[in-house]
Amino acid sequence: MSGQVFPVPNHVETAAFKTALRAVVGSVSIVASGQGTDRRGLTVTAAVSLCADPPMVLACINRGAEAHDVILATGAFSWNVLSADQVQLAERFAAMDGSKGAARFAADEWDERVTGVPVLRQSVCSFDCRLQDSVEAATHTIMIGVVVGQIHNKDKVPLIYSLGKFGRMEYFDSDR
Ligand SMILES: Cc1cc2nc3c(=O)[nH]c(=O)nc-3n(C[C@H](O)[C@H](O)[C@H](O)COP(=O)(O)O)c2cc1C
Repeated sequence: MSGQVFPVPNHVETAAFKTALRAVVGSVSIVASGQGTDRRGLTVTAAVSLCADPPMVLACINRGAEAHDVILATGAFSWNVLSADQVQLAERFAAMDGSKGAARFAADEWDERVTGVPVLRQSVCSFDCRLQDSVEAATHTIMIGVVVGQIHNKDKVPLIYSLGKFGRMEYFDSDR
């Protein structure tokens, strides 16, 4: 585990950075961890694959998020990529509907695979990960995981987020 020294000099204005970031398109996911009443999860756009051999992913989690310390304590997390028909889940796990803690997890939506953390069944794809490393970076911690189990629903279309709105992708050429 390693930390970094902040603040850094000569950076752009935070407000301008946030405005520019609104134009970036992100895929919408839920990062989840814990078990039973200790389950916690949050909606994220800052989660991506890291490498394929071995299969590794990373997620940037705000230290203030309830799931943050649960991921570190459990040593595992899931990365669940949401489909375009799962906007309600994205809103629930971003606290937009006022829900908190383990109450965000509906019994029929979540499964357990290898690590025992909640894994979303009807996602585009879900990755069950053992926490390999964590790197502190200012307000966030980069959680690095090795994928030990996965679900892939090939018929699902990904949910995206840009300009402060949820949406779905339009492919220019569906034949390629
Ligand atoms: C579209 C979207 C993307 C988000 N991406 C992240 C992210 O990448 N990392 C993060 O820590 N929080 C992110 N958040 C904020 C968390 O989902 C939100 O603060 C959540 O309520 C934190 O969980 P808690 O309420 O259990 O503490 C995002 C929110 C939205 C709506």
